[in-house]
Amino acid sequence: MSAMGVSGVLTPPDIAARKGKAPLVCLTAYTTPVARLVDPHCDMVLVGDSVGMVLHGLPSTLGVTLDMMIMHGKAVRRGLERALMVVDMPFGSYEEGPEQAFRNAARLMAGTGCAAVKLEGGESIAGTIRFLTGRGVPVIGHVGLTPQAVNTFGGYRVQGRGEDGERIRRDAFAVAEAGAFAVVLEKVPEALARGITQDIAIPTIGIGASPACDGQILVVDDMLGLFGGFRPKFVKRYAELGEAASAAIATYAQEVGERRFPAAEHVFGDAPATVRGGEAA
Ligand code: KIV
Repeated sequence: MSAMGVSGVLTPPDIAARKGKAPLVCLTAYTTPVARLVDPHCDMVLVGDSVGMVLHGLPSTLGVTLDMMIMHGKAVRRGLERALMVVDMPFGSYEEGPEQAFRNAARLMAGTGCAAVKLEGGESIAGTIRFLTGRGVPVIGHVGLTPQAVNTFGGYRVQGRGEDGERIRRDAFAVAEAGAFAVVLEKVPEALARGITQDIAIPTIGIGASPACDGQILVVDDMLGLFGGFRPKFVKRYAELGEAASAAIATYAQEVGERRFPAAEHVFGDAPATVRGGEAA
């Protein structure tokens, strides 16, 4: 692993320096407790606009607002000691042009303490990325399947198959030339992601892309089995916490119904007998 910033927190240059080296481990987080869980294992933690679908039950990321990103970004910041924190710029917060993007990126950075922002798009957004990176806003690009463009794509389809791969390559190189320090490649053919990773100067972070990418990212609720909305092929379930939670809740409901909870150890006597963990038992 490369040297870290003086505070012990990974910085955008640390991430950029990992090009072609040990794979970058990245996950999303939206809350303080989950940030605490992922921080010791991750190089980068993304407060993704996937929060809208995963935590707020929205049908897509399009309804996510800057205020939502600031609120979740603040919560994640409290849980991180080491990983670089990146916050997504939500739909409508940057597409009007560089000035709008800078104003909102500055709000995200000041409001959350994040060191970088991520925005979706390639050639069409390169001018905006150049404007931001030239003014103290480190940027991660995001090309391929860009979920904020779900209506343009007509669904969450693989992008860049066949001749269309050239478009994704141009997008990735455009964001790199504009100064992005890394680029997310989402849901593109494996060979295309491998080729871009070989040829581009900045780290690629894959999601539904290739093991050859310089890093990988997943939505944490997906890989923990907590989000049942839909299950893309690229998600590997490392746990089934949703099933475990559902079984626990069913047991609780049964025990309450049968008056087996609370048991003697969960209730209080008239006089405090012992003190346990600061609480009179
Ligand atoms: O919003 C998000 O979580 C993302 C990642 C999946 C890359 O953009």
